[in-house]
Amino acid sequence: MEADDDRQMAGFKDFYQFSAPTRVIAGRDLLDSVGFEFAKEGASRVLLVTDGGIRATGLVERVLAGVTDSGLEVAAIFDAVPQDSDGAAVASIAELARETGADSFLALGGGSVIDSAKVANLLFTHGGEARDWEGYYGLPRADDGAGRALELAPLAAIPTTAGTGSEVSFAAVIKDRDAQLKYQIGDFPLIPRLAILDPASTATLPQAIAAATGMDALTHAIEGYVSRDWNAHTDAYALHALRLIRANLERAVHGGDETARGNMLIAASLAIVPTTSGALGIAHSLSHPCGAIYNVPHGVANAINLPVTIEYNAAGGEDIAARYRDVAELLGVEPRGEVGHALAERVRELVGSLGLPTRLSQVGVPEAGIPQLVEGAMGDACTLVNPRVPSAEDLAELYRQAL
Ligand SMILES: [Fe+2]
Repeated sequence: MEADDDRQMAGFKDFYQFSAPTRVIAGRDLLDSVGFEFAKEGASRVLLVTDGGIRATGLVERVLAGVTDSGLEVAAIFDAVPQDSDGAAVASIAELARETGADSFLALGGGSVIDSAKVANLLFTHGGEARDWEGYYGLPRADDGAGRALELAPLAAIPTTAGTGSEVSFAAVIKDRDAQLKYQIGDFPLIPRLAILDPASTATLPQAIAAATGMDALTHAIEGYVSRDWNAHTDAYALHALRLIRANLERAVHGGDETARGNMLIAASLAIVPTTSGALGIAHSLSHPCGAIYNVPHGVANAINLPVTIEYNAAGGEDIAARYRDVAELLGVEPRGEVGHALAERVRELVGSLGLPTRLSQVGVPEAGIPQLVEGAMGDACTLVNPRVPSAEDLAELYRQAL
């Protein structure tokens, strides 16, 4: 490795910034006081954003009671967020908020519900269409763009998966169905003001979704820790997330006990924080096109793509391998042989034990699709912060290994 790269993966960094401003409340029976807490963030007339699956569980009624008991009004309920958030859904939510006089957004759901509420809030406040806002740090700022980013309406999130961590993150992933791609919008005002982590929210979560979203959280923690954009602040989040995931993920998925589910909600919200400093990697780059083109659920794609990514990255130099050794140690991997291989095998075992698919060919991705997938992965923002800089051929080989 060159000196530049050494500085990138170890030692004292030339520059980083860190922000984790969401007020998180975690514990039991918090859904009953949603309105009490959200009022403190400036909400008075709330638009509830959710999806049909959550609507069917009875959770919506409990949350609505928690909102109105504290004197807040419910402007409307939007319960038609699709599996992957898209431009049409967020436009409909923003329009509904305007029509019904809402002044705040409450997202109750998984990543696509929360991302939809974030981008709907952006359109509600600043207008335009979702795709207009693609990219990072592009939201309006005071003083001709030099000042503080203008605030959006209050947004609170109650995650029902553990999870994407979107309840505390600064980004939203939106699907462009015509272009068959997923794009990202990221900026500080998109970070929810309030996140409510209550295991009652994941009590009815299907096992397969608990497994897939838990693997997304694990992928955030690992990719965040080994990213070129790691920093000391995000390390603290990533490493404790790994401890909690090791201790709770399998219990939360198989037994579903409240303690394990509560701890996984916390783990997911810790694991995502490094991404707000830009720290992610090519497991995500490989997975985004799998979702955009073949509708592979995000967590499932990450579960499949993470092991091959670990093997590829860890072979990229001693300082990268050293980061993976930290991860391996926290996950209880025996320190023998090449760390990349040993850690990847541990992740594969975990994916298998959670009952998830382990190959892309099992989830509808054909070999003939690789060129289009590679194009998407090369253009993905997460590729830029991967510890190793991949060529298109490297990414094609990773897809072949994951098939
Ligand atoms: Fe993710």
